[in-house]
Amino acid sequence: MSLQSNLAESSNSDGASEQIRLRGRLAGAVKVAIIATDLAGAVTYWNPFAEELYGWSAQEVLGRNIMGITVSAETEELAKQHMAAVLSGESWAGEFQVRCKSGSYVSAFVTLSLLTDEDGVSIGVVGVSQDLTSRRQAEDALRRSEEQFHAFANSLPELCWMAHADGHIFWYNDRWYEYTGTTPDQMEGWGWQAVHDPEILPSVLERWKSSIETGNPFEMEFPLLGADGAYRWFLTRVRPVHDQEHKVIRWYGTNTDVDEQRRLFQSLSEARDHLEKRVQERTEELNTATDSLRQLSIRLLRLRDEEQRRLARELHDSVGQLLAAISMNIDIMSVEAHKLSPAAVKCVTDNAGLVQEVSREIRTISHLLHPPLLDEAGLASALRWYTDGFAERSKIKVELEIPGDFGRLPNDMEIAIFRIIQECLTNIHRHSESTEAAIRIHRDGDRLFVQVQDKGKGIPAEKQRELSSSGRGGVGFGGMRERLRQLGGSLEIQSDGHGTVVSAVLPIESLAESA
Ligand SMILES: Nc1ncnc2c1ncn2[C@@H]1O[C@H](COP(=O)(O)OP(=O)(O)OP(=O)(O)O)[C@@H](O)[C@H]1O
Ligand SMILES: [Mg+2]
Repeated sequence: MSLQSNLAESSNSDGASEQIRLRGRLAGAVKVAIIATDLAGAVTYWNPFAEELYGWSAQEVLGRNIMGITVSAETEELAKQHMAAVLSGESWAGEFQVRCKSGSYVSAFVTLSLLTDEDGVSIGVVGVSQDLTSRRQAEDALRRSEEQFHAFANSLPELCWMAHADGHIFWYNDRWYEYTGTTPDQMEGWGWQAVHDPEILPSVLERWKSSIETGNPFEMEFPLLGADGAYRWFLTRVRPVHDQEHKVIRWYGTNTDVDEQRRLFQSLSEARDHLEKRVQERTEELNTATDSLRQLSIRLLRLRDEEQRRLARELHDSVGQLLAAISMNIDIMSVEAHKLSPAAVKCVTDNAGLVQEVSREIRTISHLLHPPLLDEAGLASALRWYTDGFAERSKIKVELEIPGDFGRLPNDMEIAIFRIIQECLTNIHRHSESTEAAIRIHRDGDRLFVQVQDKGKGIPAEKQRELSSSGRGGVGFGGMRERLRQLGGSLEIQSDGHGTVVSAVLPIESLAESA
């Protein structure tokens, strides 16, 4: 019985036969070629994979010498040496070019071992060959793809590199060496630290090691030392490559030069800071100028109030006294009138009338300039006196609503409110064409509300925009606003084709002490 039938065809039912049958199955299932020969080299066993690898069926080769089947003329000598070595007791293993039935050659990994019987007597040689072609092809394909990758990475302007899973860098592209002026030996593994800024390196290491530990991508900007001895900033991105079990097997890193960008960004933000600073300075200058203007207009308003008060007193005390003296003289002249001609008597009588009229006028002007009632009897009385006179002179009906127990306010406030109402009524007379006006004053808690309303044609829209946008317009509203601002109050103007309402609100919390 041949070795072939011994291994594959035995069907005895005892344990040994079972073992033999199993071995036969194994020899048929494995993806390696198993060939046995006798001591002379005649083939005694040829498993199914040997049929697949060499193209010969077992029937075709059994009994034939192996040298004529799988060995070429060129390698025959070498094959004989290996066989001889095996027959002398050594086993041999190595790569060998084996010949197939088609005449082509296959690269195989061959192991030759001596075959002995139960008594240890040599009965032949068994050779196991493994096809290396597909592994070679895969290796070639991998090498080609790595070469392509290197060529591609070398064509990029970025610095590129590859690291093992543990962070050990084993390859850099040419740009890296060009930029850093280093050599592969210096850079291998963790040598890259030599081109880092020592101040920043610890944080780079910390983050890179954390990425290695967690398998998370890495991204950071840091400077790298160039061959010219200067640092440039790079954006570094590192991505992991995983195997089927999602284990990191490699890292791909790129360093993109962002130095110019950073410089640009820096100069932009410097320019922005500078601009902001200039705007701030200009705003401060403007605020200071506005404050000075405000102070000036407050001073002007106060001066005008004082000047009006002084003029009113002058008119009353000096011109009024002189007119009184003239009037007394005229009285004396009237007593002696019988001594005068009729024409002179008429002049004296006319003068007496004229002097009285001038006295009245002077009194009115003086009181309008600064109503004595404002200081003596307070805002309510002064307003009553003023609105009566205004209604009489202007023929505009004025309604004044003020609480009977209004009491006194600080002098500054009383003057301000009086002047605001005086200006509103003057405006109504000059601009509104209204025949009536209403003034309402009331307190609500710690606030005082003053409202002057007319039923005239209203303030033109254009004018209203000017007034609300910046307080521009005439001195009238400007003055009102300044007076109110000075007292912590505010002004609101509402106006349409049916009339105008000017409303002022003032805080009066400290009235108790100052009133
Ligand atoms: N009651 C009103 N009815 C209609 N228009 C008004 C009224 N009050 C004010 N105006 C309009 O608002 C403008 C601004 O008033 P403002 O008192 O500030 O200035 P002015 O009266 O023109 O001048 P002045 O500086 O002498 O007071 C007026 O020119 C007028 O056109
Ligand atoms: Mg006015």
